[in-house]
Amino acid sequence: MRLLFPLIACLLLLLPRSLSYSYLPPLCHQEEKIALMQFKDSFIIKNMNSFWEYTEENHPEVASWRIDGNNTNCCVWDGVECNQDTGHVIALNLQSSCLYGSITSNSSLFRLHHLQNLTLVGNDFNHSQIPSEIGNLSSLIHLHLSNSNFLGQIPFEIQYLSKLSFLSVTQFSSDGYNYLYTTSLTSLVQNLTNLETLEFSGINISSIVPESLANLSSLKFLTLDGCGLYGRFPTRFFQLPHLQFLSVSYNKDLTGHLPEFDTNSPLEKLFLGSTNFSGNLPASIGNLNSLSFFTIDHCNFSGAIPNSFSNLTQLTWLDLSQNSFNDLSWLTRASSNDILPQFQILRLANLNLTKFPDILRNQSKLLTLNLEGNNLHGLIPKWMYNVSKESLQWLYLSNNFLTGIENFPAIIPWPNLLYIDFKNNMMHGSLPIPPPSLVYYFVSSNSLTGRISPFICNMSSPIVLDLSYNSLSGMIHPCFGNLSQSLLTLILRSNNFDGTIPKTWAKGCLLRMLDLRQNQLQGHLPRSLANCTELEYLHVGRNQINDTSPFWLGTLQQLKILVLHSNSFHGAIKSYETNCTFPNLRIIDLSHNHFSGNLPTGYFTQWDAMKSIGVKNLYYLSYSVYYSITIVIKGVELEYKKIQDGLTVIDFSCNRFKGDIPEILGNLKGLHVLNLSNNAFTGHIPSSFGNLTQLESLDLSQNKLFGEIPPKLTQLNFLSKFNVSHNCLTGPIPHGQQFGTFENTSFEDNRGLCGRPLSKICGDSDISTPPPSTSFEENQGPKFFFEFGWKVIVMGYGCGFVFGVVIGHIVTTRKQDWVIKIFGKKQRQTRIKVNGRK
Ligand SMILES: *[C@@H]1O[C@H](CO)[C@@H](O)[C@H](O)[C@H]1NC(C)=O
Ligand SMILES: *[C@@H]1O[C@H](CO)[C@@H](O)[C@H](O)[C@H]1NC(C)=O
Ligand SMILES: *[C@@H]1O[C@H](CO)[C@@H](O)[C@H](O)[C@H]1NC(C)=O
Ligand SMILES: *[C@@H]1O[C@H](CO)[C@@H](O)[C@H](O)[C@H]1NC(C)=O
Ligand SMILES: *[C@@H]1O[C@H](CO)[C@@H](O)[C@H](O)[C@H]1NC(C)=O
Ligand SMILES: *[C@@H]1O[C@H](CO)[C@@H](O)[C@H](O)[C@H]1NC(C)=O
Ligand SMILES: *[C@@H]1O[C@H](CO)[C@@H](O)[C@H](O)[C@H]1NC(C)=O
Ligand SMILES: *[C@@H]1O[C@H](CO)[C@@H](O)[C@H](O)[C@H]1NC(C)=O
Ligand SMILES: *[C@@H]1O[C@H](CO)[C@@H](O)[C@H](O)[C@H]1NC(C)=O
Ligand SMILES: *[C@@H]1O[C@H](CO)[C@@H](O)[C@H](O)[C@H]1NC(C)=O
Ligand SMILES: *[C@@H]1O[C@H](CO)[C@@H](O)[C@H](O)[C@H]1NC(C)=O
Ligand SMILES: *[C@@H]1O[C@H](CO)[C@@H](O)[C@H](O)[C@H]1NC(C)=O
Repeated sequence: MRLLFPLIACLLLLLPRSLSYSYLPPLCHQEEKIALMQFKDSFIIKNMNSFWEYTEENHPEVASWRIDGNNTNCCVWDGVECNQDTGHVIALNLQSSCLYGSITSNSSLFRLHHLQNLTLVGNDFNHSQIPSEIGNLSSLIHLHLSNSNFLGQIPFEIQYLSKLSFLSVTQFSSDGYNYLYTTSLTSLVQNLTNLETLEFSGINISSIVPESLANLSSLKFLTLDGCGLYGRFPTRFFQLPHLQFLSVSYNKDLTGHLPEFDTNSPLEKLFLGSTNFSGNLPASIGNLNSLSFFTIDHCNFSGAIPNSFSNLTQLTWLDLSQNSFNDLSWLTRASSNDILPQFQILRLANLNLTKFPDILRNQSKLLTLNLEGNNLHGLIPKWMYNVSKESLQWLYLSNNFLTGIENFPAIIPWPNLLYIDFKNNMMHGSLPIPPPSLVYYFVSSNSLTGRISPFICNMSSPIVLDLSYNSLSGMIHPCFGNLSQSLLTLILRSNNFDGTIPKTWAKGCLLRMLDLRQNQLQGHLPRSLANCTELEYLHVGRNQINDTSPFWLGTLQQLKILVLHSNSFHGAIKSYETNCTFPNLRIIDLSHNHFSGNLPTGYFTQWDAMKSIGVKNLYYLSYSVYYSITIVIKGVELEYKKIQDGLTVIDFSCNRFKGDIPEILGNLKGLHVLNLSNNAFTGHIPSSFGNLTQLESLDLSQNKLFGEIPPKLTQLNFLSKFNVSHNCLTGPIPHGQQFGTFENTSFEDNRGLCGRPLSKICGDSDISTPPPSTSFEENQGPKFFFEFGWKVIVMGYGCGFVFGVVIGHIVTTRKQDWVIKIFGKKQRQTRIKVNGRK
């Protein structure tokens, strides 16, 4: 289905060319050609793939623009269109043209006075403002500036573009933040009476919906998703005579209800999800003959789902999830004679359905079926096998009480499934084997037992396999290694797998995440994992792996998180002969093993990622899978669900390391957590630790450290957990800043330590000035990794800190969900329809 896009794009590109055979192209005006070249030269042409996951293909049209050679007539340049008679440039279509840089107010663009169409969607204008000079392009009819990384206020000068019929400034940002805003939508557009399309999704408007907008009687397409709108949505909008497409979803505080609809309403697509719309669905909804998309998920609708839905023969996308209906009989009492819409996307999550709705019996065209979070018990009934057997691709059944599939078919009975989610059910027996087509398989948190059939490896190109939190057992079949030629994420944690880890990781392995924690795996860590050059996350904690230090993993350039805790790794950490540098490592946990020897100084010099400071994005792997983390502090295990990209941790606790703590650790300025407790370190606490300005937790307890606590440690303004107990330290405890907040237990059992908070008083000379009681609060900067988002999961653990990293699936945040819903890969074909309206 992804192929459709380029295909359409190609057809569109071919069209004007084939037509132009019958005409001589008009001749370009010299000054416009110069303006175009200057415009091009004011940008860098860069590949946008990393910028936005859902961007279109790149079309760097401008790259071919030339002043010399054969191609000097700008009217034949890609993306440029001239008037046939006058030769003036009237259209500039630079969609996804890889432009990077700012548009300044003196940009030569504003010398193209004859422009009627300006399309700059999908470029990266580097957080520059939309220049107010845009208002001088008074011939504009079509202005498309969406998803181009603009920032700031939308210029009011747009109101002078009185010919505009298409205005789109929609901005989706991956971090959910609204970068563009307007303080008055009314003044911007109320005089643009020719507007047919108005797209302002993702713009911070933060006001009520101005009633006067409903005077724009030509409107056909209106999108105001995620704009911070509140108050009552004027019902008049639903009655605009030409309105086909209305989308105001993701405005949590927007209230409203649906009016009575009459038969000549042109409405085709209504998106009201994640708003505060309420009331009943009127029976007259059955009058909307053209209605094809109707989504009201996460609203407050109540009452019955009207039977008149049956009359909506065009309806292909219906989302009623998460409302408060008390009569679901339209869904559950359909008989096989009823004429019903043939859905492609049907979402009925969180409706308290107690059985598979009978309406499904008539569905043969479903692509997506979502029944998550209902009250479904027992087996998936046999008749479900035939529901959209050939077409079904996305099946969501998580958070129910399902125990299995009736008659235990050898293979999950929909042959073209791409995605299936059985998480959090009560499935038991052996693992259902997916059809070869399956790409995403989630069955975590069930009660599956027994060995995994090797038939699972018939999947032709899986991407995510999550079988965690079951009771699966036996060896991990070597064929899993072969799956890694497409697999990005393999999660087998918290099962009963034993035997050795497969050695079959061949060249071309694409794995980014491998989580085998909490099983009974033995033997070595297979060296062939070095073939998985994309690996970012490797967790084998809590197994019985018996191996020497796996520092050959250092060749993995992408590795960010390495957790080996609670195994039988042993021996010294040797500086390996090859270039093993761990350049991207941010979290390393070797705790609770039998490592010994000195820490090699040379090692840490190359851990570049730990040297940088800064929080970036959340780790985001693929399909709503995030890394999460568990950490034990003072006997309490805490879970943090989404690790921020900046989090940096070293945990070497509970081993047999000895010798000095390398001074060079003080270079890893990004560190948030450093735990070297329960080892046999001797020597001083390095004063270079005073340079670890991000440090929030430092545990050096249970070693043989001597000397004083370096006073420089008082410079660590974020330090909230500190433990040097059970050592041989001497001298006064430093005063001031965070040190005023630590308790006795942080210092106990060091016979030579004195001063507060210990009761032992130092000699006169040791008592320095009283602690500056200042600025403790002030110094608690904005980014405490420790202080927010943690949730207690288990109480009671031994040995200092135990540090572990786990993976979690987080329900995507609402905003991401929205982006995926409207623009995501998973519904490409829908997107074509959404866009096809233009
Ligand atoms: C110009 O066009 C001629 C004939 O189409 C072609 O042979 C030549 O390579 C072109 N020159 C350049 C610089 O593109
Ligand atoms: C993008 O913006 C940043 C920050 O303002 C600036 O440093 C950088 O030079 C800009 N890049 C371009 C190509 O204009
Ligand atoms: C626009 O003005 C800036 C200075 O404000 C100047 O550096 C730049 O060259 C000018 N650009 C154009 C296209 O004239
Ligand atoms: C301008 O855009 C509109 C809408 O996409 C299109 O119908 C029209 O043909 C375009 N005009 C030119 C000159 O490209
Ligand atoms: C834009 O229009 C304003 C008046 O509306 C005028 O003062 C200004 O010179 C114009 N700018 C350009 C670049 O044409
Ligand atoms: C909008 O139209 C009204 C009435 O025609 C007029 O009074 C007002 O000045 C116009 N506003 C703008 C910004 O053109
Ligand atoms: C469906 O439409 C027909 C004719 O338009 C009408 O008679 C019937 O009552 C409608 N059914 C429902 C359930 O509204
Ligand atoms: C869900 O349905 C069950 C059985 O019909 C009922 O007992 C329960 O109260 C319902 N729960 C909610 C939240 O409506
Ligand atoms: C990497 O894979 C190749 C086969 O593709 C295998 O021969 C080789 O041993 C693997 N590398 C390691 C380090 O095992
Ligand atoms: C690890 O393996 C070595 C030899 O292979 C063995 O001597 C040792 O006892 C093993 N350690 C554990 C904890 O199993
Ligand atoms: C380390 O890398 C350098 C340059 O990348 C290379 O010249 C050298 O041979 C490598 N050393 C080893 C032992 O692989
Ligand atoms: C701390 O960092 C500063 C500057 O980065 C450096 O000059 C100094 O030597 C470092 N201190 C220690 C003790 O490493």
